[in-house]
Amino acid sequence: MQALKNKIFAMAKEVSPNQIKWRRRLHQYPELSNQEFQTTKFIKETLQSYGVKNLKLKSRTGAVALVNETKKFAVAIRADIDALPILEKTTVPFKSKNAGVMHACGHDMHAAIVMGTAVILNSIKKELPGCVKFIFQPAEEMPPGGAEVLIKEGVLKNPDVKMIFGHHVDPSLETGKIGLRDGPTMASVTDFDITIYGKGSHAAKPHLGVDAIAAAAELVNSMQKIVSREIDPLNPIVITFGIIEGGRARNIIADQVLLKGTARTLSPESLKQISKLIKRTTDGICHARGASYKLNILAEYPVLSNHASANRIYHDVYSAAFGKNKIAEVPQSMGGEDFAYYLQKIPGAMCRLGIKNKKFGSDKPWHSADFMSDEESIYYGTVLFCLSVLEYFSQYSR
Ligand code: NI
Repeated sequence: MQALKNKIFAMAKEVSPNQIKWRRRLHQYPELSNQEFQTTKFIKETLQSYGVKNLKLKSRTGAVALVNETKKFAVAIRADIDALPILEKTTVPFKSKNAGVMHACGHDMHAAIVMGTAVILNSIKKELPGCVKFIFQPAEEMPPGGAEVLIKEGVLKNPDVKMIFGHHVDPSLETGKIGLRDGPTMASVTDFDITIYGKGSHAAKPHLGVDAIAAAAELVNSMQKIVSREIDPLNPIVITFGIIEGGRARNIIADQVLLKGTARTLSPESLKQISKLIKRTTDGICHARGASYKLNILAEYPVLSNHASANRIYHDVYSAAFGKNKIAEVPQSMGGEDFAYYLQKIPGAMCRLGIKNKKFGSDKPWHSADFMSDEESIYYGTVLFCLSVLEYFSQYSR
């Protein structure tokens, strides 16, 4: 076992310069959710060139690679691969060439880390008792997300996946450290659109119309009463409207307003209530004002709840490799992640991988135009995944 571990450390060092090249290539040509065509092609072709097999998928983007596909059970590692509609403001030489699209959440890093892990584990596959699946998932950033689509396609079957490992780079955690937390860690996401239909009229004759803007204003305020008056304050929720559009001119009563909102909670109990309360409030306000509406719940990601059994593996292999002081506790967050869907089906955990290094300016928040990653963390992430797979196999076959 120790000899195999030493081999992994050496190989991770060896593959790392290639992973940096792959990451830069992905960073330079970022693609939006469900449009990751070049990204998918690049990942598949690169893995193929190392003899790693790709599964045939119905999904038009995303890839699943396999090592030891004939074994009876599997463990999976997941990376997300999509980018964001942001105009990059960094000055790195491999800055985005797709104007207005940027890897501002580090999914380029995720892909390169899992690609390198696949290459290493493929080269020692004879010594592994089970199958390893590498899931390169599309559309994490855009609900309903790619996770559920891939699960429905059967990526957790044939052979059955017993545990799944995920990660996310973290600009608030120093390079070389990882962050863990058991249980509910990231919030559920309920994304919804509401269109309010009123009736147009002259601004000076409001009684002849139905003012969709007035109804929308009341609705935005009333929704906060769900937060303050209807939900157990010990299981809090957040409701935010990020877009509100409506009206044509200052002297016309608006006949239509579109509101785009999102609701978050870390409590599965509160989540059960959210969509019902949004519907009831919308219905009540629109009814009171004589307006009609269309409510569309676009997606409802579950609460991301990490399993202690998977975190224990992350913890044990990483502290043995790099020291106990390299492990931090992750705070809970109202951010969402569709990795939560896998964790509803099978045990697993999402850890945080530190990328903070002030020297490179990699301490900027996720989704900002100057987001940067410290590429040294690629090595740490790769070692973490390789060792976690080995540890899982040694526990499973015991
Ligand atoms: Ni992300």
